Amino acid sequence: MHTHDHDELEEPLVPARARTRRTRMTEMHRRLVRETSLDASNVILPLFAAEGDPKFRKPIASMPGVEQLGLIGILKQCEAALEARLGGVILFGIPEHKDEVGSEAYNDEGIIQTSVREIKKRFPELLVATDVCLCEYTDHGHCGVVERTANGRIEIVNDKTVELLVREAVSHAEAGSDLIAPSDMMDGRIGAIREVLDVSGFTSLPIMSYSAKYASGLYGPFRDAAGSTPTFGDRRSHQMDVANAEEAMRVVQRDIEEGADIVMVKPAISSLDIIRRIREQFTMPTAAYQVSGEYSMIMAAGANGWIDEDRVIMECLTSIKRAGASIILTYFALRAAELLAKR
Ligand code: PBG
Ligand code: ZN
Repeated sequence: MHTHDHDELEEPLVPARARTRRTRMTEMHRRLVRETSLDASNVILPLFAAEGDPKFRKPIASMPGVEQLGLIGILKQCEAALEARLGGVILFGIPEHKDEVGSEAYNDEGIIQTSVREIKKRFPELLVATDVCLCEYTDHGHCGVVERTANGRIEIVNDKTVELLVREAVSHAEAGSDLIAPSDMMDGRIGAIREVLDVSGFTSLPIMSYSAKYASGLYGPFRDAAGSTPTFGDRRSHQMDVANAEEAMRVVQRDIEEGADIVMVKPAISSLDIIRRIREQFTMPTAAYQVSGEYSMIMAAGANGWIDEDRVIMECLTSIKRAGASIILTYFALRAAELLAKR
């Protein structure tokens, strides 16, 4: 059929028709076929709000560029988040006083409650999410009430913890939180929080559940930042075993049935398979948290000149989105927004 000047018997090494490089040759073509794009509006910035001196600032050694901030710093970050048109911020509290049952977590004058009120007064159009857990407020650093149970074992007891989490969530709601984000991994907390929010007049306030939260070594730097490293034991009695995927599907289904509006997976980069499966099976808004250790790894390698920080940041965030995340929580939020704006 075709006429060739040269030896007709010689087969080409690569079939000429199905070449994939044609649409990669120039940025014009790459743009045209690009499937995934990031948008600042789907990105949430985590902030560490410290109680006390409004001018307080304390850099977190293991997270270069991230600080514990007093109210002034928090408000500055919120202003920047609004200017960058981020999806919002999520607040973690660092209280002045901790105790066995994390009382400051559900104190209406606590660090989160007062911060939310101050932020919403100034920036009503900024979405402010609040993390609901006890580990930042307990002196032992555990996510719940610790007791010796009938079998003689020290346990984080589920139902007593859920009662306190409900109080914490309602107190965040009353302060003006726009999104309640329980990160504790107790059983039944989404349903319990939903029920009490509803009877308290917050029927329209959504819940973003940390649903598939793995027991991960990548939370280490966060615990430096929040001062929430457990004084004994670990979090494996409530956070999920990294080896399990089917269980992730079960907990997500349960959280949706209990009333979760957004489901979250974390860490992000080591759970891309889980993100994809959840997105496909449940078609819910699916958030992924690029956690502290993911941040620190990129920053450490970048500081050593081993990787190009900006490039790896965008690569990871794009991959998380491509896996199926519709929302990303990341300490790189402002930086990513800046990089996006420059494109
Ligand atoms: C609190 C909480 C943690 C994170 C979010 N909420 C820490 C933990 O479970 O120990 C981790 C976030 C990060 O590492 O950036 N339960
Ligand atoms: Zn916790």
